[in-house]
Amino acid sequence: MKDFKRTLVTTALPYANGPVHIGHLAGVYVPADVYVRYLRNKGEDVLFIGGSDEHGVPITIMARKEGVTPQDIVDRYHRIIKKSFEEFGISFDVYSRTSSEIHRRTASEFFRTLYDKGEFVEKTSEQYYDEEAHQFLADRYITGTCPHCKNPNAYGDQCEACGTSLSPLDLIDPKSAISGSKPVLRETKHWYLPLDKHEAWLRKWILEDHKEWKANVYGQCKSWLDMGLQPRAVSRDLDWGIPVPVEGAEGKVLYVWFDAPIGYISNTKEIRPDDWETWWKDKSTRMIHFIGKDNIVFHCIVFPAMLKAEGSYILPDNVPANEFLNLEGDKISTSRNWAVWLHEYLADFPGKQDVLRYVLTANAPETKDNDFTWKDFQTRNNSELVAIYGNFINRALVLTHKYFDGKVPPLGELTNYDRETLDAIRASKPAIETMLDNFRFRDAQREAMNLARVGNKYLADTEPWKLAKSDMGRTATILHIALQIAANLAIAFDPFLPFSSGKLRKMLGMKEKNWEMLGHIDLLHTDDETEKPELLFEKIEDEPIQAQIQRLLETKKANEAAAFKPEPVGENIPYEEWEKCDLRVGTVLECAKVPKTDKLLQFRIDDGMGGRTIVSGIAQSYPDPAELVGKQVVFIANFEPRKLRGIMSEGMILSAVDADGKLRLVRPETPVKPGCKVG
Ligand code: 2FM
Ligand code: ZN
Repeated sequence: MKDFKRTLVTTALPYANGPVHIGHLAGVYVPADVYVRYLRNKGEDVLFIGGSDEHGVPITIMARKEGVTPQDIVDRYHRIIKKSFEEFGISFDVYSRTSSEIHRRTASEFFRTLYDKGEFVEKTSEQYYDEEAHQFLADRYITGTCPHCKNPNAYGDQCEACGTSLSPLDLIDPKSAISGSKPVLRETKHWYLPLDKHEAWLRKWILEDHKEWKANVYGQCKSWLDMGLQPRAVSRDLDWGIPVPVEGAEGKVLYVWFDAPIGYISNTKEIRPDDWETWWKDKSTRMIHFIGKDNIVFHCIVFPAMLKAEGSYILPDNVPANEFLNLEGDKISTSRNWAVWLHEYLADFPGKQDVLRYVLTANAPETKDNDFTWKDFQTRNNSELVAIYGNFINRALVLTHKYFDGKVPPLGELTNYDRETLDAIRASKPAIETMLDNFRFRDAQREAMNLARVGNKYLADTEPWKLAKSDMGRTATILHIALQIAANLAIAFDPFLPFSSGKLRKMLGMKEKNWEMLGHIDLLHTDDETEKPELLFEKIEDEPIQAQIQRLLETKKANEAAAFKPEPVGENIPYEEWEKCDLRVGTVLECAKVPKTDKLLQFRIDDGMGGRTIVSGIAQSYPDPAELVGKQVVFIANFEPRKLRGIMSEGMILSAVDADGKLRLVRPETPVKPGCKVG
């Protein structure tokens, strides 16, 4: 690693059009926070930058839907997001927002510098314009029929029915989502960042000079570069955003992806007005961007090209992007409410920030997409945090209070096993450090937990509670070692589980948490006082877990119902044909499953005409056939009799197919005489 004096850590600015969920935390904010806490504990000079991304079309769409201003939307969500991060201990030095004045000025000046240096190309193209609303239409504001699947509600950038990405010009019968009118094509001028001109140095900088980047990041960059870079528009026709600071550019704003990364600079200025340039322009600053995989191209290619074009800025040293976290096997989705929202988690599991931090790191999508499940959450809490770490700490402290009045007992003569255990403590520091330095947070946390395992096993093997009856000297040595392990755990876990580490340090009477203390076996001194232990973690029972699973099941059902579209109506038929169909009401006399079949039920029906047998394929929707006895049904009475599994079926019972595919029997609203005609 090259020499550097300070580290600037940035985290992707989340869009302020919804709260944050576990996917955000796992992919970006927890790893960044772990890293920053680690560096701070090492005594390094770090600045940790966060903030909300408050521009872009989706925010304007949401505002229009709700009949409020975009500023109202971002004010609402910025507050919620900021609070969630605070509650989860994401220890930003600044969490600001891109609708701030300082950001407007910074982004505007940045654009102007590039403009004045001739770093943009101007291009005029035809785009859809709404003549009623008097504005150009962003791709999302145009709907029409998808040329591929004929879905009539496709958007100008994508058809959500078939997943094809579209350009507005592809849509058949385009309509403005604002006025509903047919948009017309009009010429409009925009500024483009000619990425093609930057390709050569980007290739060298990434593919040759940064071979150490994570494979997923390096691979994605390589494939972008191999496809060849194209100029990218950095302005938009929109009324929400930072005005393009050029004469004649009225009604145009900076593209959200142009201004957002500049937000890192603005937010640095906000917190360090006097020396922000040291953090952005001094070669001895190391900059790290924590992001999710969908942001790789912007942070590894577009933003570096912007910085390079400006000329006075440093480039990122590393971009440890993560893949995605799924939830119970499905992609997390804000619009489908398929997420665990941080504010809701805390309402349901108050005080359990560290549990979520732990589970999200243990399952971090570092090299591939990963899955969060509530069962795994419960297991990791109960069998790792509680059964290993918490149990070890509790035993060590309880025994210290029981036999030594809460004071750290003296260290006596050492056995080989004691020495091995002390070696394991010493070895933990370089192991954890190497992993953290290489952004392998899962492995690092596992290594810390392994130290707790060593402690747990040490107590289980040496059984000091038994020795206390015969050999107090030996008991003292064992507990002394156990307490040193506990103190090491407080340091090792601090970046990951800051709340619990704070508690543990307090119980152990530790004032410091320097990383350099890790691996030492004299963190506590004989006769130091410890506090009466409190449990670090509590068992999570099945009930709250079931409640979460149930909630997701309900969400899934609601989504399915919302997605339900009736089948297209069949061809028209003349009255005479309908008349041929003789529908009657009958009362179920008997109903049973047809043996050795999954789907068939055999009915005996009172049809008012001496009775008949009908076989119907609805068994999967009615698992308890006896329930149907006495109920009325509607059936086609003149359906040609046919044999099903050897049973002669004389008719067909009618049922409706619900959104979930379940069949529901059709019956009269109140009972009628069996044999009545339906028509
Ligand atoms: O993908 C997103 O959520 C963007 N709002 C990230 C922006 S990162 C940075 F450039 F600000
Ligand atoms: Zn389609």
